Amino acid sequence: MSSGRTPDAGIGACEIRRLGVLISGSGTNLENIAVKIEEGYLRARIAVVISDREDAYGLVRARRHGLQAVFLDPGSFPDRVSFDRELIRVLQENRVDLVILAGYMRMVSPEFVEAFRHRIMNIHPALLPSFPGTSGVADALAYGVKVTGVTVHFVDEGLDTGPVILQDTVPVLPGDDVESLHERIHGVEYRLYPEAIRLFCEGRLRVEGRHVRILGEGGEESIGLA
Ligand code: GAR
Repeated sequence: MSSGRTPDAGIGACEIRRLGVLISGSGTNLENIAVKIEEGYLRARIAVVISDREDAYGLVRARRHGLQAVFLDPGSFPDRVSFDRELIRVLQENRVDLVILAGYMRMVSPEFVEAFRHRIMNIHPALLPSFPGTSGVADALAYGVKVTGVTVHFVDEGLDTGPVILQDTVPVLPGDDVESLHERIHGVEYRLYPEAIRLFCEGRLRVEGRHVRILGEGGEESIGLA
């Protein structure tokens, strides 16, 4: 039985972490992460971008940034388990340290979770555990909440149930529709996801059961506000 802790990268570890980014769509979060790396905010490299949709615009964005971009067709595999085995193979072949789900609209298999335990992050456009699934923005709007937000979490076997790393709020304004609300949510995502990835790359995240402790730069626990 493992200790349930994130593999220790060491405080302030300066090794460049290798990211594998999984997408299904537009890929603006992917592009934002690529830019944060180019600007030097993140000491990481995107080793591979994989899409489960051939027409995902994120593949175009990835290639524009000189990244290796691969389409893997779920239709050419008999089931989710064998598709995910191929995903694992490609990610391992590219020596990926951290898997980033960035608008990847497919649940990963338990085998996938086990292969990268506490090394898979997802970003969700709502305050989990509210409004999980693929339509978090529309569901929050339809429910009538006054505040929604963004969650970055480690992925476990459930649907958007893994330990929360960072969250921040976004107000729902009178007259909002899905598009206007999602636009403001995206703005928060572009800040929160790189921050969570940076914490991981600096070895400052410790998973203890459902809780993710964030260590300060000197190794002390910080309060973890975004
Ligand atoms: C993001 O808002 C992300 O939170 C959401 O998809 C969008 C992808 O945008 N993910 C989910 O809803 C996952 N259940 P992008 O392709 O422009 O990065």
